[in-house]
Amino acid sequence: MFKRNKITIIGAGATGATTAHVMALKQMGDIVLLDVVPDVPNGKALDIWEAGPIERFSLKVTGTTDYELTRDSDVIVVTAGMPRKPGMSRDDLLKINADIVRQSVSQASKLSPNAILVILSNPADVMAYVAQKASGFPYHRVIGQAGVLDSARFRTFLADALQVSPKDVTAFVMGGHGDNMVPLVRYSSVGGIPVEKLLTQDTLDEIVQRTRTGGGEVLNLMKVSAYYAPASSLAEMVEAILKDERRVIPVISYLNGEYGEFDIFVGVPAIVGGNGIEKVLEVEFTNEEQEAFAKSVESVRKPLSLLNY
Ligand code: 2OP
Repeated sequence: MFKRNKITIIGAGATGATTAHVMALKQMGDIVLLDVVPDVPNGKALDIWEAGPIERFSLKVTGTTDYELTRDSDVIVVTAGMPRKPGMSRDDLLKINADIVRQSVSQASKLSPNAILVILSNPADVMAYVAQKASGFPYHRVIGQAGVLDSARFRTFLADALQVSPKDVTAFVMGGHGDNMVPLVRYSSVGGIPVEKLLTQDTLDEIVQRTRTGGGEVLNLMKVSAYYAPASSLAEMVEAILKDERRVIPVISYLNGEYGEFDIFVGVPAIVGGNGIEKVLEVEFTNEEQEAFAKSVESVRKPLSLLNY
């Protein structure tokens, strides 16, 4: 008998609820929206579910505070934790979010031992590490969300500068999900044409810098952390897993020697499919890119070291 996909989203805040809505519209599977706050996840899930007749999705969206309802999930998305406020860095959330992620993943993973974990809570690279330790899942079944979002911003800004459709812009960001992230201009193209042939260095430098601070730009305007593009980013990753698409997308993956790095989760291009991380892809760096990547990895190792693993 065909079994519908089951997706659990831990955290029914703006990002978690928006992610549930996007996934329902894309008909990705039954959704369980869990939070520690009573009633709120139930209400948000009910509201999304009631759009079904209009949006024509035949799936169930359930809200709960009870982890038992998450049992046998195929994918567990973790958005739980404090979001940034204006003036905060993602690393400021380290201790409080490490506890929240550790507790929620520990409970959920016991009930869904074969699930794939997708971690958005910030600081995302470190939270992916925390989630792997809390679940004991093999590294390939723990993926952090950052590169899809950062690359979407990068592509948006490139498309705007070129006055073309963002659909035709290919570009990706590597490294930690922070101000030291590494948008790779050299690998960016539009319709197959390298963007370096079409934009001045000054424009490219501006776009790289705007990408690096893209989260802060939205935060300062909205006074709360971004959640629309993060939700779409999570949906793209989960779709790649559930449909075994073998997408080549930038995601936070465990490195065990790739790029000369060991025992760290950080953003790299990878093949994402039914097993989670199918393969980390190693791209060649110029000396400058290598330095920038190493610096970005170091900006992940620093907060991680504060958690005393
Ligand atoms: C962002 O960059 C929430 O970290 C996320 O907007």
